[in-house]
Amino acid sequence: MIEGKEIASAGQLRYGMLGGGEGSFIGDVHRKAIAMDGLAQLVAGCFSIDYEDTLRTAKKLRVADDRVYKDYVEMARKESGREDCIDFVDIATPNNTHYPIAREFLNAGINVVCEKPLTIDLAQAEELAALARKKGLLFAVTYTYSGYVMVKQAREMIRRGDIGEIRVVMGEYAQDWLATRLEDTGNMQASWRTDPSQTGRSNCVGDIGSHIENTVSYMTGLKIKSLCSSLDSFVPGRKLDDNAEILVRFDNGARGVYWASQVAVGHDNGLRVRIFGSKGSIEWEQENPNYLRVAYIGEPVQILSRGGSYMLPNAAKTSRIPAGHPEGYYEAFANIYRNFATALMKKKKGEDISDADFPSVEDGLEGVKFISKAVESSEAGSVWIDM
Ligand code: NAI
Repeated sequence: MIEGKEIASAGQLRYGMLGGGEGSFIGDVHRKAIAMDGLAQLVAGCFSIDYEDTLRTAKKLRVADDRVYKDYVEMARKESGREDCIDFVDIATPNNTHYPIAREFLNAGINVVCEKPLTIDLAQAEELAALARKKGLLFAVTYTYSGYVMVKQAREMIRRGDIGEIRVVMGEYAQDWLATRLEDTGNMQASWRTDPSQTGRSNCVGDIGSHIENTVSYMTGLKIKSLCSSLDSFVPGRKLDDNAEILVRFDNGARGVYWASQVAVGHDNGLRVRIFGSKGSIEWEQENPNYLRVAYIGEPVQILSRGGSYMLPNAAKTSRIPAGHPEGYYEAFANIYRNFATALMKKKKGEDISDADFPSVEDGLEGVKFISKAVESSEAGSVWIDM
């Protein structure tokens, strides 16, 4: 980890962005999170499907005219031909575009950071992972929740054996924003998420179920062996799932229950993970992210705070301000980017990056496998399917 003064002397990376145009959501979060540590500067982009929007956004972001592009093909081609080529591209566009865009930039020899889900199809995800490996390029997939300090603390405690052998995992992500036909109102985010041609074979599992899968995998280190799912669409006329229950069996024999819903009235972004082991349990909620609920057999329940002396080094070093001042979503993204940028700078210097801590293309591939198996199980009548 490069910290404090080292950051300033490490030199700045250059990046380009796809998506993040006017009225969009996550691209702007990425830009602010990257800016937090000053490790990379935005120098190029194609910010929207609409070129006029791209031009206006580029102007606001002070991107030089000759590095504003009509589409990703032009951007990859022209950037890779420049001496001051971008060090990585940041893909913050709808799901169906991740594969062609990432493939284009990998083939142009440019490192990639891509939003989840990695692709809408398993073969595409396998191809991207193989291509990144073959080219020796860094490829991050921005599973946000792995960037939270207390998620890292839970991971370290579980690794150390604090709660013993894991027996049961309960994961839920409850939202209510799609409880009505928001897609009919022209809402940009709802429109493409409920359209199979842009979001793939699953809406709800792809959009938020995949966050449960990655967060649990990161915290516990467990691998899913098989699953049995029911994907449902409650809102009339909707073609894709807006609610999903998934039973999970892990490689160590543990059992899990995942529930993802976009029709859970009264819930905003209720990601909650509860992990029960033979000696204790750990629970984390993204809407109260600076705390962990920990319990050991026969002892009173404890609430761990982000600033406590008991914080383990790999978690503590990612905390940015004293406890009690809340950290959250932006800082989680910033932690992913700081670790990615640090690894990229080390790699440029020929240094070892085997301890890099950011979600990789292999994690993205696992996520797409999870989504596609959940769809397969549900379509076959909720049968158990091996991963
Ligand atoms: P959005 O609809 O708000 O924005 C998408 C942007 O991409 C728009 O500016 C659009 O014009 C642009 N775009 C579309 N096709 C393009 C192309 N070919 N070239 C350049 N720009 C293009 O979508 P949102 O909600 O920001 O989601 C984007 C991605 O981020 C999705 O894959 C989604 O799953 C993921 N996401 C991840 C989150 C996380 O916590 N990690 C949270 C929200 C979204």
